[in-house]
Amino acid sequence: MFEGIYKFGKHLFTLNLSPGFRVYGEKLVKKGRKEYRQWNPYRSKLCAAILKGIKEIGIKPSDKVLYLGAASGTTASHVSDIVGKNGYVFCLDIAPRVVRDLVMVCEKRENMFPLLADANKVEEYENLIPQCDVIYQDIAAPNQVEILLKNSRFLKKGGYVLLAVKARSIDVTKKPKDIFKEVERELEEHLSIIDRKRLEPFEKDHMFYVMRF
Ligand SMILES: C[S@@+](CC[C@H](N)C(=O)[O-])C[C@H]1O[C@@H](n2cnc3c(N)ncnc32)[C@H](O)[C@@H]1O
Repeated sequence: MFEGIYKFGKHLFTLNLSPGFRVYGEKLVKKGRKEYRQWNPYRSKLCAAILKGIKEIGIKPSDKVLYLGAASGTTASHVSDIVGKNGYVFCLDIAPRVVRDLVMVCEKRENMFPLLADANKVEEYENLIPQCDVIYQDIAAPNQVEILLKNSRFLKKGGYVLLAVKARSIDVTKKPKDIFKEVERELEEHLSIIDRKRLEPFEKDHMFYVMRF
């Protein structure tokens, strides 16, 4: 298993950085003095990709992560557990309604920072984000690759990119497998794909990519 992620029985867990607090109603499990949060693969594409056997995730303790499309912080909170006290997760989302909930999650976690912004408008937040070890992007938009490339300025040399692609948000009329081929052609002009996994049965018509520039 990856550093900072634990498997007890069939389920994945992360060590709760904010003991006693749940983020999305997840189960808390105590083992000795430590408290772990159960990670739900139906609510988190990163968890689904790990259970589907993705071979690298690129995120490790003490990393700085730029998270694009953090929503109310479900997956971002597990990333916050993984990077731990010495890491940072910069959580960006465009929707004020979810950012309100995200702010409450960030208040309980010193390594998580909320940002209400459009990931297309990098100039508006470029002074707030440092160079990061990982960019995690889960934005269901037709121009996902363009958004990723714009934000690549925040990635350290050799950093990792984790990208969740929802076929139907790119084109509902085409078959998902053809959409993924097109997306991959575009990605491979700039990045090397380390691994990819379809996320069924946890998410329909989604592909999860781990890449490096
Ligand atoms: C599928 S949800 C993310 C779920 C989240 N990653 C998780 O696992 O907990 C996609 C999010 O992308 C956000 N989004 C869509 N377009 C965006 C943009 N241009 N900039 C920033 N966020 C955007 C939406 O508001 C939504 O919250």
